Amino acid sequence: MKTYKIAVIPGDGTGPEVTAEAVKVLKAAAGKFGFKVELTEFDFGGERYKRTGETLPDSALDELRGFDAILLGAIGHPDVAPGILEKGILLKARFALDQYINLRPVRLYPGVYTPLKDKGPDDIDFVVVRENTGDLYTGTGGISMKGTPHEVAVQSAVYNRFQVDRCLKYAFEYTHKHGKKARGKGDKNTLALCGKTNVLTYIYDLWERAFHEMGKAHYPDIARDYYHVDATCMWMVKNPEWFDVLVTGNMFGDIITDLGAMIQGGMGIAAGGNINPEGVSMFEPIGGSAPKYTGKGVINPLAAICAAGMMLEHLGQEPAGKAIEDSVKFVTANKLKSLAAGKMGYSTAEVGDLVAQKVAG
Ligand code: IPM
Ligand code: MN
Repeated sequence: MKTYKIAVIPGDGTGPEVTAEAVKVLKAAAGKFGFKVELTEFDFGGERYKRTGETLPDSALDELRGFDAILLGAIGHPDVAPGILEKGILLKARFALDQYINLRPVRLYPGVYTPLKDKGPDDIDFVVVRENTGDLYTGTGGISMKGTPHEVAVQSAVYNRFQVDRCLKYAFEYTHKHGKKARGKGDKNTLALCGKTNVLTYIYDLWERAFHEMGKAHYPDIARDYYHVDATCMWMVKNPEWFDVLVTGNMFGDIITDLGAMIQGGMGIAAGGNINPEGVSMFEPIGGSAPKYTGKGVINPLAAICAAGMMLEHLGQEPAGKAIEDSVKFVTANKLKSLAAGKMGYSTAEVGDLVAQKVAG
């Protein structure tokens, strides 16, 4: 029987609660689809940092490299200054493990409330391929004359052709395989680049040239489209049905996927994968650690459960991944009153049970 070694990092706040439900569903899927998951838990997060001063030590990275995938709950602790855990754990893992894709589906499941009037599951159904290693996230820059009236802060957006090309290749391949919505471009799947070529004339000039070169040379079956990032936000609200697959840099991807999470029903449902197609990938609910709900059993675990589903799909267990997504859809359509914490009509564990039962059934 195929066995997958999974590193589980429950993390901070409500992370452990939602991770427990994701693991429950993962085990149900393994039982149903005939594979095994061997789970190893790691305690990286705010509590460990407070105790030991350690975030994600290099030795841990070496250990993580030995797993098939990583399941992450949430990182962020009210007693730890902003940035320390995010940079020290989440971003460190993404960079060190070279998880150069951040894959974020934006799908409105049936029965889920969206703040967009007159839009339904057929309209809100696209995927953002966010580059995950470059851009403003590289920490390139600095501050001089700090604390004086003349202080200067510089933080540079950094991309090289290699990073852009490997991300675009992933996005084209993804669109080839999973794209589905032909809209106004004949009957082709559409990959749209989200950039800012009118102002960021270096960075997004590079992206735009690489995008069209690769598309023309290797993916004639895929329609190419382009949106400035500000316009992307506009159309995500007004005409989300226009999007099939969107590819963008790290910073824009961060921003537009929070907007995406809101139109798909909120942080309770939004999942993502930090993917290294040639290495170890890490799957997570994209929301934070929600300290105010910690320990109350009211947080929505569906985003973490969906992350587990994405992980299984990534590991080659597509039917199991799909069964999880379908079961989540069943639960949103038929059971939950709301996706909001405390308003679901069920506890965190009960929601996990509902999905696990559906997967197993
Ligand atoms: C995300 C988060 C992170 C990011 C933060 C916590 C560093 O907002 O996963 O989108 O900016 O990438
Ligand atoms: Mn973000």
